[in-house]
Amino acid sequence: MKSNNLLICCTLILALLISAQSVSDQNSRNADSKDPVTRGEQIFTSETFSGNGRVCSTCHELERFGTITPGFVQERYATDPEGPLFRTIDSDDGIGASFERLMEHATFRVVLDLPERTPSGLGIRKCDDPTSQTVVVHRGSPSVFNVALEQFLMHDGREGDDLVAQALSAVHAHAEPGREPTGEELAAIAAFQASLFSHSAIAATLNPGRTLDFVEDRPVLELPDGNTPSEKRGREFFNPDRQCGQCHSGPMLNRTSKFHPNGVGMPIESSFAERAPDIPNEKFRWCYVDLETNKLAPGPLGRSDVFQTPVSDPGIGLTAGFVEFQLADGSPAMLPNELVVGIAGPLFKIPTLWGSPDTAPYFHNNSAKTLDEVLDQYNFMFEFFPDGSFGLGCDPNAPVCLSEQDKTDIISYMQLLSFEQP
Ligand code: HEC
Ligand code: HEC
Repeated sequence: MKSNNLLICCTLILALLISAQSVSDQNSRNADSKDPVTRGEQIFTSETFSGNGRVCSTCHELERFGTITPGFVQERYATDPEGPLFRTIDSDDGIGASFERLMEHATFRVVLDLPERTPSGLGIRKCDDPTSQTVVVHRGSPSVFNVALEQFLMHDGREGDDLVAQALSAVHAHAEPGREPTGEELAAIAAFQASLFSHSAIAATLNPGRTLDFVEDRPVLELPDGNTPSEKRGREFFNPDRQCGQCHSGPMLNRTSKFHPNGVGMPIESSFAERAPDIPNEKFRWCYVDLETNKLAPGPLGRSDVFQTPVSDPGIGLTAGFVEFQLADGSPAMLPNELVVGIAGPLFKIPTLWGSPDTAPYFHNNSAKTLDEVLDQYNFMFEFFPDGSFGLGCDPNAPVCLSEQDKTDIISYMQLLSFEQP
C-alpha cells in the first residue's frame, strides 16, 4: 500500500515535471527566437520575478535616460501611490509607508553587508554600533546608459564590471523576488544594458563582441571644442590641468588626470557631497573597528574616527578590497579601501559626464538637483583648498572659485555632452 502511494505520488511529480518541462521548453523556444538584447529589454521592462511588482525600469526609466527624478516619483505617487516604486523597503524608515525621502530626493535604501574580513583587518562601523554587520545608506539610481564601459558599477564600484552579477544583486535588493532569475535571463539583461549608449561615437569605441573591454587603440572620444565663446570658455575647465579635468579626464571623463595630486587614472575621488552641511540623509560618526574584537581601533591617522565630521555614507570604505594608485614615478600601488577613505573623506566612483545634462539629480545621494547646484557644491569643495593647488585653476584671492560667469560657461559647454537625439 505504502509503495503504491509512493508510486502514485512519484508518477504525479513526474507528470508535473514533464508538463513543467514542456512549458519551459516553450519559453526557451520563445526566448531563442529573439536575440539576447531584445529579450533583455523585455525582461528589463516587464519581468518581476514573482516579486513586489518592480522591474528594472521602475528605477531606470529608459525614456528618462535610464534614471528617474524626484519630479517623476511625485508624478507616480499622485497617480498610483500603491505602484511598484512605493514599497516598504524604500520607505523613510524601511518598515513604514511614508515616502518623503523618495519623493524629495529619488533615493533608495541600499542595505550593505559589511565585510567580515578586510585586507587591513580593520573595518568601518558606526561608532555607536560597532558590532552591526549591515548598514543602510540612501543612494540615487544612476543611468544605465554607457554601462558597457563601466569598470566600477555602483556608486562605490562594488560590482566591478560584472553586469550579470550586478543584475542578480539588483533583483535581490529591489524586487523581493519569489523566484531566482535564470542565468539566461541575467545574461540577457546584461546584453541589453551593454547595448545602451548616450552617443553612437561611444559605442564605436568598443571592441565588437567584447563589450566590457575598453579598447585603448581605438580612436578615443574627443570632447567637443564648443561653438559659442561661452562654450569655448567652458571647455577650458575640462583641460586635464583645470578644475574639472583633473578628475573628469580620459575618454569617459571618469578618471583623474596626470595633474591630480594623487596620480593619473584613479577611478574614485570625492566631490565633498558628504561634507556639505545640508544633505538629504542623516549623518553619523563612523569608526575604525578591529574586526577580531569588534572594538574601536586607531586608524592610519591614529584616531578611531574615520572622518573629520559625521557623514551619512562612507562610500567605498564599506567595500572589501583595495584602491589602486599610481605613485609619482608611475608605478602602481594599492591601499585597503577602509584606510584610504579616512585620509580623503568619503570616496565614490567618478561618474562619466557623457549624457549627464540629462541625468539629474547628481551625486550618489542626489544632493544636487541641477548642474547649477553641482557647481555650487564644487565651490564649497574648492574652499577647502585655499591655495588653489588642488582646485587647479582657482584664483586664491577670488571670493569663490567659480564665478557666476564660469558657472554659466561650464553649464553651456556641458549641454554639448547631452544625449544624442535618436
Ligand atoms: C528600486 C529601484 C531600483 C530598481 C528596481 C533597480 N535598480 Fe539599479 N540601481 C538602483 C540604485 C539605487 C543604484 C545605485 C546603488 C548603489 O550605488 O549602491 C542602482 C545601480 C544600478 C547600476 C549601476 C550603474 C552604474 O553606473 O554604476 C546598474 C547597471 C543597475 N542598477 C541595473 C539594474 C538592473 C539590471 C535592474 C533590474 C534587475 C535594476 N537596476 C533595478 C536602483 C534600482
Ligand atoms: C576631486 C575630483 C573631482 C573634481 C575636481 C570634480 N569632480 Fe565632478 N565628480 C567627482 C566625483 C567623485 C563625483 C561623484 C561624487 C558622488 O557621487 O558623491 C563627481 C560627480 C560629478 C557630477 C555628477 C554626475 C552624476 O551622474 O551624478 C557632475 C555633473 C560633475 N561631477 C561635474 C564636475 C564639474 C563640472 C567639475 C568642475 C567644476 C567637477 N565635476 C570637478 C570628482 C570630481
